[in-house]
Amino acid sequence: MNDVSSKARRPAAYAGYRLRDVPEPDLELAQVGPGTPGGEMMRRYWQPVVLASELGAVPVRLRILGEDLVAFRDGSGRVGLLHRHCAHRGAGLEFGRIVERGIKCCYHGWWFDVDGTLLDAPAEPPDSALRRTACQGAYPVHEAAGLVFAYLGPPEEQPAFPNYDTLNLPGTDLVPYSISHPCNWLQVHENLMDPWHAVFLHSRMGATQITAAWGEMPVTEWGEIGDRVYYLTSRRLGDLVWVRFNEVMAPNVGQVGGFWQDGAREVLFQRVAATRWTVPNDDASATIFGLRHFSDDVEGPGGLGDRAKVGKEKLDVYGQTGGRSLAEMQDNPGDWEVIVSQRPIAIHAAEHKGSSDRGVAMLRRQVRRCMRGVAGEGEPLPPLHKPGPDGIVPTWTSNSVLRVPQRKDLPDQELLLAVGRAVRDAVVAADGMVGEMRLAAIRANLRKAATELAQG
Ligand code: FES
Ligand SMILES: [Fe+2]
Repeated sequence: MNDVSSKARRPAAYAGYRLRDVPEPDLELAQVGPGTPGGEMMRRYWQPVVLASELGAVPVRLRILGEDLVAFRDGSGRVGLLHRHCAHRGAGLEFGRIVERGIKCCYHGWWFDVDGTLLDAPAEPPDSALRRTACQGAYPVHEAAGLVFAYLGPPEEQPAFPNYDTLNLPGTDLVPYSISHPCNWLQVHENLMDPWHAVFLHSRMGATQITAAWGEMPVTEWGEIGDRVYYLTSRRLGDLVWVRFNEVMAPNVGQVGGFWQDGAREVLFQRVAATRWTVPNDDASATIFGLRHFSDDVEGPGGLGDRAKVGKEKLDVYGQTGGRSLAEMQDNPGDWEVIVSQRPIAIHAAEHKGSSDRGVAMLRRQVRRCMRGVAGEGEPLPPLHKPGPDGIVPTWTSNSVLRVPQRKDLPDQELLLAVGRAVRDAVVAADGMVGEMRLAAIRANLRKAATELAQG
């Protein structure tokens, strides 16, 4: 008999009334505006703010870290990133006129260089003190691979622009893209440390959104080394073991290994499909700016990549963008809608996190440590994005598929865990090397590890 009053019933049954109140968001982690711990921390790093291809005949209005800005490329090719409101009486500079040198506000013609210097205030007399005292707020920019990066922090703390190894690979084309999300940045970023969603959302819950191999249940481990949080997922596919080694780099950079891997052949250190920065627009909106990597190595046989489908609000993987119909999202839900539907700011206090969420918890701790480190509280920050001897930052994200058949002397779950760790160690051990030498060392380390693990 179905006795609803039984003491044996689950305590949560029909608990809607009791559970309807939603706790407050964790504002320390969520806020990004000027003067907040998160906002000040994010301002210590170069952040992409606009695609270079968006800079055309008129200025582009932006909102970054809670600040209203305009970006433009002047007639001499230099990029300016200025406060949106004109220093004179606040008109929006998105209505300004781009000129050979800088931009002129349309309201009274104040003329600003790309660094914010006031070049002219034509309605004022030549000896006006305003010419010496007024300027427009401006930020330094750096263009790389079709993305415009900016530094919004204190000028005396401006770091070098980090040059990741994956942005310098021969035979790789980098195609920039951006995807806006009407929600807090952290829930977008932390999806990168949640490999279990790939098993379910991208495979077992409906359509195969990437390749069938993603639906195999992996053995998973997360860890932290220096400024990185990483995961290792090991999947058995016959005698082969497919290991994904994915990293996020504090505070908001992440890489994703080759998408189309099917684990059907041996692969040694196949590099990334995407490098991406999750940039807060404000507390409740964020934009992923990314570089999609196209190469024979990453696309591989059976690759479904399509560079024509990569750009502003476009990516060549299912479910990454908004703008699809509700019917389509409900029929075949993707990353975008599950992330955005976690509420405008995900409520951590209402979650029930388990062992499969360990990477998300680690990433949040890392972000909080960064915020407190910048604020001068807690532990000092580890050096972030530290370059190797060649000035290039070695990164780890990769797919490797090793031939390690099941063994009689070891439960396969333990063997899969050991293969994952061996891949991590093989890659990280070569950090002091550069270029082809590093690649050769990693591949030799991986071959040796596979041989040893296969033999026991
Ligand atoms: S408000 Fe811009 S020139 Fe007057
Ligand atoms: Fe995903």
